[in-house]
Amino acid sequence: MKLNRLFAAALAAVALTSAHAGEVEVLHYWTSGGEAKSAAELKKIMQAKGHVWKDFAVAGGGGDNAATVLKSRVVSGNPPAAAQIKGPAIQEWASEGVLANLDAVAKAEKWDTLLPGVVANVMKHKGTYVAAPVNVHRVNWVWANPDVLKKAGVAGMPKTYDEFFAAADKIKAAGLIAVAHGGQNWQDFTTFESVVLGVGGAKFYDEALVKLDAKALASPTMTKSLETFRKIKGYTDAAAPGRDWNLATAMVMQGKAGFQFMGDWAKGEFLAAGKAPGKDFLCAAAPGTANAFTFNVDSFAMYKLKDAGAQKAQGDLAAAIMSPEFQEVFNLNKGSIPVRLNMSMAKFDDCAKLSSKDFVDTAKTGGLVPSVAHGMAISPAAEGAIKDAVSQFWNDDKISVAGAQKKIASAAMTK
Ligand code: BGC
Repeated sequence: MKLNRLFAAALAAVALTSAHAGEVEVLHYWTSGGEAKSAAELKKIMQAKGHVWKDFAVAGGGGDNAATVLKSRVVSGNPPAAAQIKGPAIQEWASEGVLANLDAVAKAEKWDTLLPGVVANVMKHKGTYVAAPVNVHRVNWVWANPDVLKKAGVAGMPKTYDEFFAAADKIKAAGLIAVAHGGQNWQDFTTFESVVLGVGGAKFYDEALVKLDAKALASPTMTKSLETFRKIKGYTDAAAPGRDWNLATAMVMQGKAGFQFMGDWAKGEFLAAGKAPGKDFLCAAAPGTANAFTFNVDSFAMYKLKDAGAQKAQGDLAAAIMSPEFQEVFNLNKGSIPVRLNMSMAKFDDCAKLSSKDFVDTAKTGGLVPSVAHGMAISPAAEGAIKDAVSQFWNDDKISVAGAQKKIASAAMTK
């Protein structure tokens, strides 16, 4: 009898915990040094709430591999609790009817008042929150090693492409690699979209790469962008193809290369290696883009699950992501800025402070545009096709500028 009572009490206790805590399997692609440190902060918060974090990391910068794995898991009826997806891909998943409704958490926590409208729209499907944002990454940055610049006699960060190529020539003459680059199509496009933004301005960027307007894609400004992009290629090393982005960042860190075009997750990498901004590395808007901002918002969507404990864990994950504590510590590690409005930037460095100021300013001037390279702007199908066309051009010097321009325009029509 006594034993039975004990058993019943034990069962009740188990039932109680499982109603409150659950396992949360989180699919993400944060595997580099800085990224892993940031992901660990999310894991810590969930564990503190009593949930079990099941890490589902799929290596591969930019998330292409993770997207493929996610598709196969959802199609086979076994989705993870949460997955790092963003932009139009959120809408595609939501219209499949597989995403959980996060409105209860969003209402209770007042997300509508805490998020910039441009971000809230991406997180909602037909007016319902289906994803929770963690940050705002800026993509149009150039990173540099100040010792390399000094050695080469380069006075400061280049503001225009004339200045950039003059600096790159000096670095080359000093026997170093001017531009650290990794060879994957999203890395090529990260550079490409910054070039289009710098050469054509935010309005042209929006017409050509976001609206995919045929006239803009066929314009002399696009020709000039492709010529500038090809010229940059001439300053990369022969071992770039296939290289991961963080290894390219390491080349800048180690003083082997001068510059890298990359979003500010590169800063997370410098910081994780103990490097100080302004001293060991420099950040500046990519040439010609000081008044513009290509945004890239990382977010987690929750997949519909039946288990009550898992549902509770999903709600807690969504709430944790938007909490001020998490937004601060995560973004200090990730290189990005908080997406939650009115957060203090006191603990952030000058690169983040500049990003925060430019995010607010460009939202007013029209310079704020979504990153195509990072899945914020166009359908995944069109994005994939354009990226391939741009990378073919980058990798094959025999493809003419005119030929590439035509190919990009036809890739833009991919549905
Ligand atoms: C993501 C970042 C990530 C980077 C490299 C981007 O698309 O938004 O969070 O660090 O890819 O993997």
